[in-house]
Amino acid sequence: MTRLSSVLCALAALGQTALAAPGLSPRASTSLDAWLATETTVSLSGILANIGADGAYSKSAKPGVVIASPSTDNPNYYYTWTRDSALTLKVLIDLFRNGNLGLQTVIEEYVNAQAYLQTVSNPSGDLSSGAGLAEPKFNVDMSAFTGSWGRPQRDGPALRAIALIDFGNWLIENGYTSLAANNIWPIVRNDLSYVAQYWSQSGFDLWEEVNSMSFFTVANQHRSLVEGSTFAAKVGASCSWCDSQAPQILCYMQTFWTGSYMNANTGGGRSGKDANTVLTSIATFDPEATCDDVTFQPCSPRALANHKVYTDSFRSVYGLNSGIAEGVAVAVGRYPEDSYYNGNPWFLSNLAAAEQLYDAIYQWNKIGSITITSTSLAFFKDVYSSAAVGTYASGSSAFTSIINAVKTYADGYISVVQSHAMNNGSLSEQFDKNTGAELSARDLTWSYAALLTANMRRNGVVPPSWGAASATSIPSSCTTGSAIGTYSTPTATSWPSTLTSGTGSPGSTTSATGSVSTSVSATTTSAGSCTTPTSVAVTFDEIATTSYGENVYIVGSISQLGSWNTANAIALSASKYTTSNNLWYVTINLPAGTTFQYKYIRKESDGTVKWESDPNRSYTVPSACGVSTATENDTWR
Ligand SMILES: *[C@@H]1O[C@H](CO)[C@@H](O)[C@H](O)[C@H]1NC(C)=O
Ligand SMILES: *[C@@H]1O[C@H](CO)[C@@H](O)[C@H](O)[C@H]1NC(C)=O
Ligand SMILES: *[C@@H]1O[C@H](CO)[C@@H](O)[C@H](O)[C@H]1NC(C)=O
Repeated sequence: MTRLSSVLCALAALGQTALAAPGLSPRASTSLDAWLATETTVSLSGILANIGADGAYSKSAKPGVVIASPSTDNPNYYYTWTRDSALTLKVLIDLFRNGNLGLQTVIEEYVNAQAYLQTVSNPSGDLSSGAGLAEPKFNVDMSAFTGSWGRPQRDGPALRAIALIDFGNWLIENGYTSLAANNIWPIVRNDLSYVAQYWSQSGFDLWEEVNSMSFFTVANQHRSLVEGSTFAAKVGASCSWCDSQAPQILCYMQTFWTGSYMNANTGGGRSGKDANTVLTSIATFDPEATCDDVTFQPCSPRALANHKVYTDSFRSVYGLNSGIAEGVAVAVGRYPEDSYYNGNPWFLSNLAAAEQLYDAIYQWNKIGSITITSTSLAFFKDVYSSAAVGTYASGSSAFTSIINAVKTYADGYISVVQSHAMNNGSLSEQFDKNTGAELSARDLTWSYAALLTANMRRNGVVPPSWGAASATSIPSSCTTGSAIGTYSTPTATSWPSTLTSGTGSPGSTTSATGSVSTSVSATTTSAGSCTTPTSVAVTFDEIATTSYGENVYIVGSISQLGSWNTANAIALSASKYTTSNNLWYVTINLPAGTTFQYKYIRKESDGTVKWESDPNRSYTVPSACGVSTATENDTWR
């Protein structure tokens, strides 16, 4: 079986069987259920077509690299964005968790691609300071994109951590704790370190237009640190920087509430009504949480009030919506002031508007009641005219009526998507606000990912909890601060040929003992199969063009590197140096987990020393189960 046919077959296991060939049924006469049955197949194929190197539309992309769209001009989206890729992989990982094991390879290739991309120096910076992690997009061959762009975008590291933790948790639950520790945690640790260090600095929003603080960004940052800390403990590590910053971010998140809706950005000079906030509610959705306003759960009074203000803001700006009453679904876009392609509805924002409501229905059913407050009353009145402030228990007729009305309302947002999708099921980025014709980038990966999550939530298929219920406490005094974590080059990229659900080594689903972040003694996971070495053989590869008689050394802040004394610097070898590959290298045993600063120096034949330019480089020796070697690749500067 090809990867595509095996994963498509597995969709049937989720009750999403494709009954008809995509695109052959006339849309208008097809029920929403029947359309979704084929559209889920089109969407998963659409995503896989956009992932290198096997994807039909992404042949020149490296393995695991997700392109945003096959469109190469007007607009050119043939790049890989950290945000879009992470949101897409979160969907694939959730499908994998639900039994679609055919997605294993593409998920692993994504993980490996991210391990590499984290190390690519780019206009935002590099890995040693963390700053390079917030570069928004890269070329599909994983080289840096060096044109001008709205950078940095600080949601990327958080979203990537969230996706990788989802996969890491599956690995742990199924007995592959050492893979979670070796292949996932080093990448996640870099991203969590980034979030904790830089969250309080402004950056570009998810639409790449406004440079300020953005609600979607900070809410995802909060989530990533909360589940990152739990994940760290499960792989025998810890994340003090997560623990210190998460409550501060949560506190800051509260400042976006205007009193009637959630403001999207602190800058930009707009109303602040924006799909940003609805996308936030579905991103912070936790099936174990209550309807709390603090983490902006989909069923919370604030998120429902926000849903109404956001969707109503498009009723008068799109011709397609003319004459449609409040409480009936309309076409919705990014924000009412949008002028990109003249400002149109987007498929992914319509799907998000539906998804928030399906999430809320799940939560009300789970909690066993619906509570209407003065904040959410207007939302409920739109769909259920006799709504009043109070609590409606499940089993009551009001509860049933409200659930049915909200379901109908949510389905309406998907029906808008159905009406404007192509006959063959393709979803682009936008559809024309007056004619409904598809516009802008074709076969947008994020549109397909949004279709799949909305459909899963519609069927009551929810993602794992991220711990929202125990992360709602706001400190009494808050600061917009920063904490420093550790950055190191992720090195482990090999995987077993098959991952089997539930059959990994037994007994390894509980957390490992000891703390690898502070201890240099051997630490063993509970499986007994994986040991964290006390020292790691780190190879420093340095590209430096030298002339005869000139030698390269490394010197740094720890005794093994001469404590900054150039007389005690460690010599690199030129035994592999060629005219086309000016490689100097040395392998040094260093204590696992140690963070230090270093530089390369040249010593001339007369003994004079030439230093690299500032800043000092920084490195953290890996400290993870089974990782006994590492390679750092540097270039003289
Ligand atoms: C649908 O047709 C469009 C336009 O011809 C094409 O670009 C797209 O790839 C097709 N989609 C599918 C799923 O076949
Ligand atoms: C590099 O480290 C040395 C030794 O700690 C310090 O004196 C120097 O100021 C550092 N350079 C920079 C640019 O931080
Ligand atoms: C460094 O180079 C080696 C050898 O080419 C490679 O195996 C390793 O993945 C590289 N590491 C990074 C972080 O690029």
